[in-house]
Amino acid sequence: MKGKAVAALRRAIVMGLCTWLGTAAAQAPAARPWSDAALSPDARAKLLLAQLTQDEKFQLIRSYYAGPDRPPNKPFPQGAIESAGYVPAIARLGIPALEESDAGLGVASSDRMRPGDHATPLPAGPVTAASWDPQVAYRGGAMIGGEAHHKGFNVLLAGGINLMREPRNGRNFEYAGEDPLLAGSIVGEAIRGVQSAHVISTIKHFALNDQETARDTISAQIGEQAVRESDLLAFELAIERGQPGAVMCSYNKVNGDWACENDYLMNQVLKRDWGYPGFVMSDWGGVHSAAKAVNAGLDQESAGEIFDKEVYFDAPLREALATGEVKQSRIDDMVQRILRSMFAAGVFEHPARPAPIDEAANLAVARETLEAGAVLLRNEHELLPLDVDKLASLAVIGAHADKGVLAGGGSSLVTAKGGNAVPGLAPTGWPGPVMYHPYAPLKALRAMAPKADVQFAEGNDIAAAAALAARSQVAVVFVQKWAAESVDAPDLSLPDNQDALVAAVARANPRTIVVLENGGPVAMPWLDQVGAVLETWYPGGDAGTAMAHLLSGQVNPSGRLPLSWPRDLSQLPRKALPGAGGGTPPASVDYTIEGADVGYRWYQSRGLQPLFPFGYGLSYTRFQHGPLTLATHGGRLQATVEVSNTGSRAGADVAQVYVQVPGAKARRLAGYAKVFLKPGEHRVLTIPLERRLLADFDVARHGWVVRGGQYSVFEGRSSEQLGTPVQVQLPASTL
Ligand code: BGC
Repeated sequence: MKGKAVAALRRAIVMGLCTWLGTAAAQAPAARPWSDAALSPDARAKLLLAQLTQDEKFQLIRSYYAGPDRPPNKPFPQGAIESAGYVPAIARLGIPALEESDAGLGVASSDRMRPGDHATPLPAGPVTAASWDPQVAYRGGAMIGGEAHHKGFNVLLAGGINLMREPRNGRNFEYAGEDPLLAGSIVGEAIRGVQSAHVISTIKHFALNDQETARDTISAQIGEQAVRESDLLAFELAIERGQPGAVMCSYNKVNGDWACENDYLMNQVLKRDWGYPGFVMSDWGGVHSAAKAVNAGLDQESAGEIFDKEVYFDAPLREALATGEVKQSRIDDMVQRILRSMFAAGVFEHPARPAPIDEAANLAVARETLEAGAVLLRNEHELLPLDVDKLASLAVIGAHADKGVLAGGGSSLVTAKGGNAVPGLAPTGWPGPVMYHPYAPLKALRAMAPKADVQFAEGNDIAAAAALAARSQVAVVFVQKWAAESVDAPDLSLPDNQDALVAAVARANPRTIVVLENGGPVAMPWLDQVGAVLETWYPGGDAGTAMAHLLSGQVNPSGRLPLSWPRDLSQLPRKALPGAGGGTPPASVDYTIEGADVGYRWYQSRGLQPLFPFGYGLSYTRFQHGPLTLATHGGRLQATVEVSNTGSRAGADVAQVYVQVPGAKARRLAGYAKVFLKPGEHRVLTIPLERRLLADFDVARHGWVVRGGQYSVFEGRSSEQLGTPVQVQLPASTL
């Protein structure tokens, strides 16, 4: 009797502990068969789904906003970490809460949400893309995913991949440029990195949220073939490679239908054609209906109690279910998809809990990302690298380089350790604050050249800055252009009279180097007058050190542009961006103009020369590319090319392979490889070509079709610096 009572008591204590812990592992596997990690995520989700009540199902298909900026009548969701989103746990079954943080450049739910907290900021997305190195993307993803996990988050709203159709887009700094293959491979690897930390990553914003102006009213108009070969191809490739647990549908409409209730995008393309097994979550405020959205493929409404007109995935959805407008099987499918992604990422077995973070190691990842992705755009008379041993004096000018480096604004904004180095700049409210991360280039440049007299001028006083440049051996001018979510730039110009500043400094000292901190291409009317230009976008954590390494040659720049740099707005498919900077925006944006020919393909098809082409970037050494050869391997075309470092410094180059399909004016990037070579070293690179870039999407046949005929294959160092093409005859086929 006594023994039994003790056993019962022990059981009761264990059970209590289990409930308290609320983890799946806490109960014996027999009682929770879904906790058997040997089963597939789908099988586990199915077992668990069978245990859920209807109310529990409804609990999983919506999240709550967990930010501090909320109306008083909307209480903070109990148990949430202050962040972007929260789905409460179901302790009875050991289902953990979903704790969702922004975004793709680091854990953005720091400081702004939780004062005093900080995280490691990666450089802007185009920097990672400019590395043309999937391993760099993976490492960055793993770093931010690890930080998210160690801060208690198991969902990171990362994976931004909207193609750069619009250089003025305020969110280009969150994305990966203009090319489906490059963006798809880089973002796919970043997602794989995030999820390696047992954190579900999103991919976003699905789809065609390619400008911020009127993002929550505008309809992106485009034909089916064009969208499958451009924006959707980028998603398709990244989803294949990264297998994100969630897709975030976007604010805008696509061909008249809201993206978050778009049957074509979610049901037909994503789930049917691509066989996507994860769930679609809405963007915050992106839901406009219950039955229509659910039947079109939306699985989870995000923070509807704050951002949508009403919480559609509660009473309205229950009503639609009662009237038969929505089927129970669809509700079950929504839940199955959510649970499946949780199992697939390992969020049950590896609960996200606060844990110490190796900040030095993470900062090194950020620094190395910039070192791999900064693009040297100009270097006259080998002004760079600086010979720091011989440098007697250096003028450092502008962009608060004495304090830090600029970051882009909006939900992706990360607060680094030390906070905002330049507080108080307008706008201080959304989509601000304007933030400078405290990694001052000035300090790093002083450390780089300890013997030199390194002086700083703010740049507001142009005459003073020019005078400093005149009495210095070399001048480095930092220029900045802030960009942010929800607003586009009306034009490409630099603000705050910086063009006049650069021109005056360059007049005073032709040995002027410009370092750009910007979200997308900017006009550079002074380009011919300066000695060198280094593009760093928003350069992120430990940027000052990375910049010093790059300028001094300790690191050889190897970034290549993931985007075309227009000469001016007249070269763009849409010269005007109505509504940006004021005025009434139109109801739609016409992407049929360029269709699938985004970026360099547009320039090539129109015979236009951009200022800098896609794929372009200089190095401190010289590379030679041997002749291109082609072979078929397992039914796939493979390019082989030998790359040699014929200069005197170690460095990395990118072999870029472009295909011109019969009848096309433009070439398409179909494969690439980056290689690091010591002086005198050479390596043979074998580059598989992506079959969908050799094919067209045939709308009538509903699939990829290789038309057949003579294809020209080029290899080179940018989309415009190409070797002799090799002709290859391909038979017609379907993929
Ligand atoms: C943005 C998303 C972000 C979400 C949550 C939205 O405004 O478009 O990218 O993940 O907010 O903060």
